[in-house]
Amino acid sequence: MAKNPKITQPENDPNVSTLSDLPNEIPNELPHQTGFLNRHQVLERSPTLLLVASLLVVTVGGIVEIAPLFYLENTIEEVEGVRPYSPLELAGRDVYIREGCYVCHSQMIRPMRDEVERYGHYSLAAESMYDHPFQWGSKRTGPDLARVGGKYSDAWHLDHLIAPRSVVPESIMPGYAYLLDTQVNAEYTADLVSTHRFVGVPYTEAMIEVAAADVLAQADPDTDAYDDLLERYPGAQIRNFDGEPGVSEMDALIAYLQMLGTTVDFSTFTPDASR
Ligand code: HEC
Repeated sequence: MAKNPKITQPENDPNVSTLSDLPNEIPNELPHQTGFLNRHQVLERSPTLLLVASLLVVTVGGIVEIAPLFYLENTIEEVEGVRPYSPLELAGRDVYIREGCYVCHSQMIRPMRDEVERYGHYSLAAESMYDHPFQWGSKRTGPDLARVGGKYSDAWHLDHLIAPRSVVPESIMPGYAYLLDTQVNAEYTADLVSTHRFVGVPYTEAMIEVAAADVLAQADPDTDAYDDLLERYPGAQIRNFDGEPGVSEMDALIAYLQMLGTTVDFSTFTPDASR
């Protein structure tokens, strides 16, 4: 077949360099490019250089995307009512994590109709802003607990935690009766509170000083510190949660469950759409 004269053959193209006419340059079968693009060949022909340069590009891109998040205070909308956990609630949360309740329960209501109708208002970022670590979760063997506070009585929780099938016959949840046998260590809880301050929860020096006393006070409806406790932790529920004398891990866990999702008043809350 005859050659099509309209198609330039590489050997006749003045823009194509070959080994013979450019002894000091790398031959290039493609048309000459501008000086700048030519330099790109240096990168493309050296795997090491290419790797280093790609890493550099990815690093710069990563920093640009991620760094601002560490400085933007407004990534979480502040919501009225959200407060740090009281020492007793924090002790209960510690039990919750220790016992692996999060393995079967999530604490995040997604903004989908089925979830909102079943569990209540979808979770706000601010509601878990003092959670270290957060308890969102992606698997539910049991129901979501983000708004379980106030849904049942203390007595129901007590029965349910001792023997879940005594109140929900088809339940597969394990029993936790032994939580009644261990008293909460108030000194340890005070340390827990200061640890949470260390990671950014705004507990004051005064709150930490009385944390150990607050643990005992919240489970004692006759406490002298009733009003002080409410001032430090607005809306805290003060009563004997398990009905037994002393402050057991059961008291702490029920105090925690009963406050979940109760801090924000959704009858007056309007989301800030500008964020
Ligand atoms: C093996 C999985 C599993 C583990 C672990 C587990 N649960 Fe459950 N939980 C369930 C299931 C299933 C249900 C639903 C049936 C029922 O009410 O017992 C449930 C229900 C509940 C409910 C009632 C929720 C509602 O809205 O009706 C609460 C409260 C609860 N669990 C708390 C806990 C706590 C606290 C722990 C840890 C001490 C825990 N669960 C550990 C599976 C589990």
